[in-house]
Amino acid sequence: MKKITIAIDGFSSTGKSTLAKQIAKTLGYAYVDTGAMYRAVTLYAMQNGFIDEFEFNKTALINNLSEIHLQFQFNPALGFAEIYLNGVNVEKQIRSLEVSNFVSQVAEVSEVRAMLVRQQQQMGKDKGVVMDGRDIGTVVFPDAELKVFMTASPDVRAQRRFDELTEKGQLVSYDRVLENVLQRDYIDTHREDSPLVKAQDAIEIDNSQLTREQQFQKVLDLVNNI
Ligand code: C5P
Repeated sequence: MKKITIAIDGFSSTGKSTLAKQIAKTLGYAYVDTGAMYRAVTLYAMQNGFIDEFEFNKTALINNLSEIHLQFQFNPALGFAEIYLNGVNVEKQIRSLEVSNFVSQVAEVSEVRAMLVRQQQQMGKDKGVVMDGRDIGTVVFPDAELKVFMTASPDVRAQRRFDELTEKGQLVSYDRVLENVLQRDYIDTHREDSPLVKAQDAIEIDNSQLTREQQFQKVLDLVNNI
């Protein structure tokens, strides 16, 4: 079967990455988590003092973008690729609530977007890729053969993220997680550069009431109908 590009966009904590990984594994495609790339740049900014709770020094980050080297490395034990920031595996660190609290501000910076979009286009140039994010079907791969747009109610999404974080042993409150989900929704949909919007030709899946298996089947049917 001819390899295609699958773009999965949508709001935070809609289960995009779980679905994308499962689809990629089934089809033997590569999976690229573009959110991890924005998160790793955010971690870099935090580690270098360009961002803290009082200030975000955008200029310093922009001036240092050439120092940021991101790489995905497949981990056979996990069955997916993990992200490395300047040679260090940061897969765990980038999922913290601190990084989540700043990432949407970093993702508003056009210079950051331009750099990451270029890398994403390079990674997907041979097709056979499932990429998830916010602008994959609109900006990164506007010609993707299949575009999926995932939504779910904010409280369902916050509960999922809360369960995920507590499972990993992080001490967070549900209210803080919900606040973060709503704040990111707002910034992601209102930013000037590449805001989160459903591509005209994307198929929307509201998964508030769907099991993982049902979502997976739905997307697999879409792939098989291409
Ligand atoms: O997907 P995830 O929740 O890990 O993404 C973290 C943040 O990165 C999003 O809230 C958004 O601000 C930003 N992002 C983006 N464009 C993408 C992927 C993520 O702006 N393609």
